[in-house]
Amino acid sequence: MADIEEIHAQAVRWIKEAGQRIIHSFETILDIETKSNMNDLVTNMDKDVEHFFIERIAERFPDHKVLGEEGSGHDLDELDGIVWIIDPIDGTMNFVHQQRNFAISIGIVENGVGKIGLIYDVVHDELYHCVKGKGAFLDEKRIEPMRDAKLEESIVGLNAIWLTDNKKIDKNITAKLVKEVRGTRSYGSAALELIYVATGRLDAYISMRLAPWDFAGGTIIIEELGGKVTDLQGNPVHYLKKSSLIAAAPKLHQIIMERYLS
Ligand code: 2AM
Ligand code: CA
Repeated sequence: MADIEEIHAQAVRWIKEAGQRIIHSFETILDIETKSNMNDLVTNMDKDVEHFFIERIAERFPDHKVLGEEGSGHDLDELDGIVWIIDPIDGTMNFVHQQRNFAISIGIVENGVGKIGLIYDVVHDELYHCVKGKGAFLDEKRIEPMRDAKLEESIVGLNAIWLTDNKKIDKNITAKLVKEVRGTRSYGSAALELIYVATGRLDAYISMRLAPWDFAGGTIIIEELGGKVTDLQGNPVHYLKKSSLIAAAPKLHQIIMERYLS
């Protein structure tokens, strides 16, 4: 049996150390490259932070596996045993352009089940974290269970790109949603948007295209707080697959699904 508490304690230490490396990098000149397209950025720090975790995990927990955004972890086609799903910098565009509004995101799953979630808002030095079944915390302070909001009083996290012509969703549907809710926000980091849902700063977050490292940590924390995370068809998200995503407290989740997505 894996000692989840010990893994959690170690993950907390490492994520803070990794955050310090990122803060120090603000004084250096970043090496910036593009990946799949000219807006898909990666820096030397994304790679450095991913390596940092991979090296420490391999040394301390040699039987654990790592799925990392930058691809230097394991090539996984199943989720046997313990897998760390890591986004070294979620919101790289914000990191490069704004030096804020980014996070380190880690979800630790055992045989496919989310056990530990950590999202570190590096610039604010705020660590959101949980062990499944033990409550979720912002640093040492317990986070209250999620509360449902009425649709017309809710603030929804949604990127404006989904209001333009796109292959994933009819823009008339997103436009209708935007008109009927109280407000929308877009922060450019799925991990932060999920943690804003977890803490009630947002009532829902919707994205048509996320990867496991974008949503693993946040999903585990939201579920610990009684929230619901599914793809836009209502299926549970899978920690190895890219997916659409809607996160909210259960009733609001159901209302958005029924009114706009089915
Ligand atoms: P990243 O910064 O770690 O790449 C808004 O851009 C959010 O979506 C960010 O969390 C970003 O994560 C993620 N994202 C951007 N483009 C993506 C893509 N093509 N597939 C999956 N996730 C993406
Ligand atoms: Ca990233």
